[in-house]
Amino acid sequence: MFRTAVIGTGVVGSAIALLLQQKGYTITGVCSKTGVSAARLAKRLGCGHSEKPEELLAQAEVIFLATPDRELGDVAGNLADSGRVEEGQVFFHLSGALPADILTPLREKGAAVGSVHPLQSFASVENAITNLKGSFFAFQGDEKAAETAFQIVKDLEGKPFMMKSEDKPLYHLGACIASNYLVALFHFAVSIYRAIGMSTEQATEALMPLIKGTLANIESLGPVKSLTGPVARGDVNTLEKHLEAIANLSPDLAKLYKTLGQYTVRVALEKGSIDKINAEKLISIFREGENTSV
Ligand SMILES: NC(=O)c1ccc[n+]([C@@H]2O[C@H](COP(=O)([O-])OP(=O)(O)OC[C@H]3O[C@@H](n4cnc5c(N)ncnc54)[C@H](OP(=O)(O)O)[C@@H]3O)[C@@H](O)[C@H]2O)c1
Repeated sequence: MFRTAVIGTGVVGSAIALLLQQKGYTITGVCSKTGVSAARLAKRLGCGHSEKPEELLAQAEVIFLATPDRELGDVAGNLADSGRVEEGQVFFHLSGALPADILTPLREKGAAVGSVHPLQSFASVENAITNLKGSFFAFQGDEKAAETAFQIVKDLEGKPFMMKSEDKPLYHLGACIASNYLVALFHFAVSIYRAIGMSTEQATEALMPLIKGTLANIESLGPVKSLTGPVARGDVNTLEKHLEAIANLSPDLAKLYKTLGQYTVRVALEKGSIDKINAEKLISIFREGENTSV
């Protein structure tokens, strides 16, 4: 267990600090930009807080930089310039998209640096604390920081894995599709049900068992075998009805439905539930009205 400080006490920094403390770590101090969230968290943790990140360095072996991505370069630079970084200290940021190299100024002062990205959606601190157990964490960075990162992730009951710096943008994009676009898709479905008079609450309640059933199918059967519905069946008539209905509702939403439909045809082909001729027919329906000029 490492004496740990957390700079940035938003949803991720707070959840990590609280969980590490639950696991027996000493949180030496926390810090935020305005000081308000840090003071609130420090009270909960029973530790000190500061508005000056460099004041947290003296006590800590490990320092998490849990600020927004756009702040990481400046925070790292200011910490390095403070003259308080000690050789052997380990600094981690939590960004999925940025490389560990954003912390180079700290490495130049003798610290080891890395990025430890929890592959989880932190919508609130309490939800994050519940969801984090069993989550994967991508590590990328210095060899000297890897052992510490893997130990911390295991202590959090997470699953550490190595990530290459050059793969981080695509790795993060995959995470955004799986989480953020799932939320957007759900919102899309709810908006359709709202158009037929259901409230958001009613639509959410009605669609939730369907979503949960689908997720359970994906977990046990994989994404390809989990595909059901008109595209998987090559059911042209049904899809034509869908397209007529959604075109009447909103041309923009019709465009989105068609784009998703085209990707779904790929999945159905991979499943083998439609052949190439069916696939071409479906693709042509989904492309109808598209501006094909280049
Ligand atoms: N949210 C997610 O689902 C998720 C998932 C995985 C990884 N991450 C990563 O986790 C990191 C933190 O994200 P978040 O969602 O927790 O952000 P957040 O909720 O916006 O919290 C950011 C925190 O950083 C503080 N801060 C901002 N600038 C600072 C500075 N210059 N010095 C010190 N503290 C500063 C803020 O202070 P105030 O409280 O005073 O405003 C706030 O406490 C990001 O790198 C993000 O990419 C997020």
